[in-house]
Amino acid sequence: MITLDYVLRTYHLTKRYKDKVVVHDLNMNIKAGDIYGFLGQNGAGKTTTLRMLMGLIRPSSGEIELFGTGLNGNKNKALERIGAIIEYPGFYLNLSAVDNLGIHRRLMGMGNKECMDEVLTTVGLHDAKHQKVKNYSLGMKQRLGIARALLHRPELLILDEPTNGLDPGGIKEIRQLFLDLAKQRGITIIISSHLLNEIEQVANRVGIIHQGKLLEEIDHETLQKRTRHYLEIKVTDEQRAAYVLEQKLGVTDYFVTEPGILRLYEHLDQSTKINLTLTNNGIGVKEIALSGDNLEDYFLKITGGE
Ligand SMILES: Nc1ncnc2c1ncn2[C@@H]1O[C@H](COP(=O)(O)OP(=O)(O)OP(=O)(O)O)[C@@H](O)[C@H]1O
Ligand SMILES: [Mg+2]
Repeated sequence: MITLDYVLRTYHLTKRYKDKVVVHDLNMNIKAGDIYGFLGQNGAGKTTTLRMLMGLIRPSSGEIELFGTGLNGNKNKALERIGAIIEYPGFYLNLSAVDNLGIHRRLMGMGNKECMDEVLTTVGLHDAKHQKVKNYSLGMKQRLGIARALLHRPELLILDEPTNGLDPGGIKEIRQLFLDLAKQRGITIIISSHLLNEIEQVANRVGIIHQGKLLEEIDHETLQKRTRHYLEIKVTDEQRAAYVLEQKLGVTDYFVTEPGILRLYEHLDQSTKINLTLTNNGIGVKEIALSGDNLEDYFLKITGGE
C-alpha cells in the first residue's frame, strides 16, 4: 500500500553481517513534516539503519519505500530528494566554507552559486563563510555539514547524531535550526541520537531502537504523558476528595485511577497543603506520593536495562 502522507516507510527492514543480525525486522513510518527522533544506545543499529535508508548499504531483506515508491526501480530519483550527514562530515580544512560547498556543488553537478549563500544563511554561517574550516568550532562544522546536505534542496534530511560533541549552547542552536527547517521549509528530518532528553526536545515522533529492533514508535505527546510526574493520593473518599481539591485549590488536571486513588498532575510540590486541605474537609488521607518515570527511567524500562 502506498500512502503519500509518508515520506519514508520500511517494511521488515533487516541487516545481517555474517550470522549477526544488526537490524531486525524494522517497520518505520515517517510522515511529511516530521522531525523523527531515532533513539538508541551505542551499537543499537542506528547508523546501519540510516545507511540503508540512504542507499549506502544494501538491506539483507525487507523493503524501503521513499516518497511513496520502492527503492528499487527509481532509486536515484528518490535518493536525490534526500540530504544526509552520516557521522562526522569531512571537509577540506584549509579551504573556506564557500570553497568547500563549491567543490561539493560541482562534484554533484548542481545548479547555481546563489544556493550556496542561501544555505549558509540558513544555517547561520553567512558571516563566517570566507573563514578556513580549520578555524571553525565543532558546532560551526556541524552546521556547515547541514548546509552541504541542504544544497540540492532536499525534502528529507537524514542526520546521524548531528549534535555529537556539541556543548549545550551548540545543541540549542542546532535544535532551533531543525525546528526552523521543518516549520518554515517543510523539510522532513530524521535525527538519530542516544540521548532521550535531546530527542524529546525537538522530535514530534520518536522511534526507539534497541539491539536492532524497533521497540516503539510514538508521538511526542504520548512520550510526554508516559513520562509525566504526578501525585498519587490515597483517600477514604475519592469523589469528595476530587470535589474539595477542585473547589479549594482549583485543580483540574487529575483523574481517578481506581476507587480510593486520585492521580494529580499539578500542585506537585504542595503535598502538605493538599493533605491539610483534604483533612480539614473531613477526608482521610492515607498516603500522598510523588510518582512517575523520568525520561531516563522510561527509556531503561522499555529497553529492559538496569
Ligand atoms: N560492517 C559491519 N560488519 C559487522 N558488524 C557491523 C558492521 N557495521 C556495524 N556492525 C555492528 O552492528 C551493530 C550496530 O552498529 P551501528 O553502528 O549501526 O550502531 P549505532 O546505533 O549507530 O551505534 P552508535 O551510537 O555507537 O553510533 C554494532 O554491534 C556494530 O558492531
Ligand atoms: Mg552510529
